[in-house]
Amino acid sequence: MIGAAPRPRAEAGRLAPPEAGAALLADALAGLSAPRKTLPCKWLYDAEGARLFEAITRLPEYYPTRTEMRILGECGAEIAKAVGPEATVVEFGPGDGVKAVLLLGALARPAAYLPVDIAPEWLEAAASRVAAAFPGLPVRAVVADFSRPFALPGRPAREARLGFFPGSTIGNFEPEEAAGFLRRSRAALGPGARMLLGADLVKDRAVLEAAYDDAAGVTAAFNLNLLARLNREAGADFDPAGFRHRAVWNAAAERVEMHLVSLRAQAVRLGGRTIRFAAGETIHTENSHKYRPERLRALAGAAGWRAGRMWTDPERLFSVWLLEG
Ligand code: AVJ
Repeated sequence: MIGAAPRPRAEAGRLAPPEAGAALLADALAGLSAPRKTLPCKWLYDAEGARLFEAITRLPEYYPTRTEMRILGECGAEIAKAVGPEATVVEFGPGDGVKAVLLLGALARPAAYLPVDIAPEWLEAAASRVAAAFPGLPVRAVVADFSRPFALPGRPAREARLGFFPGSTIGNFEPEEAAGFLRRSRAALGPGARMLLGADLVKDRAVLEAAYDDAAGVTAAFNLNLLARLNREAGADFDPAGFRHRAVWNAAAERVEMHLVSLRAQAVRLGGRTIRFAAGETIHTENSHKYRPERLRALAGAAGWRAGRMWTDPERLFSVWLLEG
């Protein structure tokens, strides 16, 4: 099977809310009733959020995407040598599939490509891009939620599986959750598997904060879209102009935090409840953890992997690791 038919999307507020509505509302009610208000970052990615994230990856300040692509490009031969021939590449959260095309192009005779995501419509882009770039390569989209225990389809004997988790998406997990993901993926990939993992490195505060608060305001729009989404899909009545984007490096926790700051005292209706905001109160919408090499090694080790080689760029902005089972 190559991908799956995209599900129709509801038009803003006019058609029945999409099936995400109930889960979004439940998460929002829970997160916004807490003493420190939060919203899970996975809700940033509706169609508009995905479009804005794509624009973020092309911003001058947002170094992770282009730096990781550069590492995969320039170190491709070394990575291929370390991985060996005939790998089955299992990519978690493949996005548009551009990084997979780069990796598969570098590897010697890749055996197959399995993009894994919870949303079938998000697998289509990666599956079709890879299928078009590598005619004859078996491509099989796998719908699974890798934030919980999951299984991969059938495993021919002696298949060399290579997990692929680029983009520093690992940084969106809390460290304990990241260890959980690495443990689960190791179990799902099976004995002898490896994992190619992209992780953003700790660096100067100014570089980090600019990457998450760009001059053109694209990241601000990406963050504020969450409120517009709550209005569209969960019947909330947020005034997005009553909030502003804030990105801050939390040095103690080694993470960039995104918040939405309430510009005034205000009340918002959500799911039959009233949520009150004090002026200056924030909704914490995302953590993007950065990993020093020694911390990444410890994290992988705690999850049963052995961190092998690490590739980086000349400025040491980003790291790509080969983990071994
Ligand atoms: C796609 C999750 C890796 O944390 O850098 C970009 C998301 N948030 N700008 C990141 C994001 C704000 C991105 N990840």
